[in-house]
Amino acid sequence: MKRILSTVALMAAATSAQDGCANDRGNWYCARVNAITYTEVGGEGTYNRVTNMDPYSGTCSSEPSGYSGTLSPLNEEVSLHVRGPTILKQFAAYAPGEPSAKKSKRSEHARRQAHGAKHAHHGHPHEKRAVGDMVTATINGLVQTWVNTYDGLPSEPSAVEVPPLGDSRLVSPAADGEYEPAPSEEDPPAPSADYAPEIAYSGAPSSSKGSVWDVASPGDGWGRSAYFDASSAVAEGMVFLYHFGGQGSGTFDYSFGNSLSYASCDAQAGASSPQVLEDCELPSGREVVLMTNETCEDGSCGYTRPGTVAHHGFAGSRKAFFFEFQMPDTGETSEDAYDPVNMPAIWMLNAQIPRTLQYGNADCSCWTSGCGEFDIFEVLASGDSRAKSTLHGNRAGGDSNYFDRPVDAPIKVGVVMYDDNIHIKILDSSMEFPSVMDEATINDILGSTLTQNSMVSLFRVADVSG
Ligand SMILES: *[C@@H]1O[C@H](CO)[C@@H](O)[C@H](O)[C@H]1NC(C)=O
Repeated sequence: MKRILSTVALMAAATSAQDGCANDRGNWYCARVNAITYTEVGGEGTYNRVTNMDPYSGTCSSEPSGYSGTLSPLNEEVSLHVRGPTILKQFAAYAPGEPSAKKSKRSEHARRQAHGAKHAHHGHPHEKRAVGDMVTATINGLVQTWVNTYDGLPSEPSAVEVPPLGDSRLVSPAADGEYEPAPSEEDPPAPSADYAPEIAYSGAPSSSKGSVWDVASPGDGWGRSAYFDASSAVAEGMVFLYHFGGQGSGTFDYSFGNSLSYASCDAQAGASSPQVLEDCELPSGREVVLMTNETCEDGSCGYTRPGTVAHHGFAGSRKAFFFEFQMPDTGETSEDAYDPVNMPAIWMLNAQIPRTLQYGNADCSCWTSGCGEFDIFEVLASGDSRAKSTLHGNRAGGDSNYFDRPVDAPIKVGVVMYDDNIHIKILDSSMEFPSVMDEATINDILGSTLTQNSMVSLFRVADVSG
């Protein structure tokens, strides 16, 4: 079922983003919003899947792995990451239909393997990948993923962030197929006034891509596959992991450092078995990783770092995550962009990344080659009260509109990944995360950016990423 939207409504949403845009410490901030939709997120390409990690030499091997299809590569298993200062009150993961995560995960894995084999012949290791390299390296220099080492990436963390809509400076291909890094600019130009028409959908959606007005088909609702509630100390279908391998679980060596481990319930140490996170404040800079409770022991996750705690992530091109959280302001500040002090964040990674090496030698994870990251709600400067979202990978872009950081009280946020679109929406405080989420609620989130409302934003990834 399609809902036909007027161009006017979409343009209104896009145009509002230009009002009062400002560049603050390298990041653009336009309007405060309560919903952002990313469209045309998926693509076809190749990333390097890690095939071996050698702790003696600290080197890793990988092989090109092709991906294609809706939402790809974020249709693959993803892990969710929460960095303090954050109080995580609730988390829930959903997928359409019955909550039989195991079955869909298996078929997803098989499908992925098939794609990998198929694309291996084509061997386009350089195709598009360099675009993602430069874009992701530039954006990421400020914050979250590779804060410790930048092997193979530009050594200087550029202050230039993904530009506002329609600005493709960062991703212009050179004639020889190589991609030039973005010019580093102290003060990138303000968003131009002429980009709005480019993001307005005026006609029928193309047949192969999900369109922003696709709605979920009638069914039995979406089943909850994982649920955490801090107040009742419940964690079902999921585990909390921590970068503390060697403490009770996981492993440590001097080349790769700590692997994933289980997290203690106050997320201050490793643990030997899965623990339920307390109703506690994750300290500034500390990070917990949320995965399903299904382990990779049977080899079903592909290659993982030897000795690491390894669990499956959340797979599928249609999936939804709901969070209730608060991000208190500790009052701390730091000018060091590599040191995430008082910079809370919630983001997702291709789950292969933490299962090999999330922080360290870039050859030891598929991140640099574009296997996928989506920043859902991320504070980009120490002590800042705004949170932004960004897609990293071979298709990349970040909306310049922002959410208010929930400093004083928890908020509820839904992230619905539906075909080629990702919808983030701040939800009503009365919203609950029941064992079945009805279609109407999902559809409401899918349609949240379609209203003529200055509090919503539509970001078409194709405008900044070919
Ligand atoms: C995962 O959690 C679900 C829900 O609590 C449970 O039914 C299932 O047995 C668990 N699976 C594993 C492998 O622990």
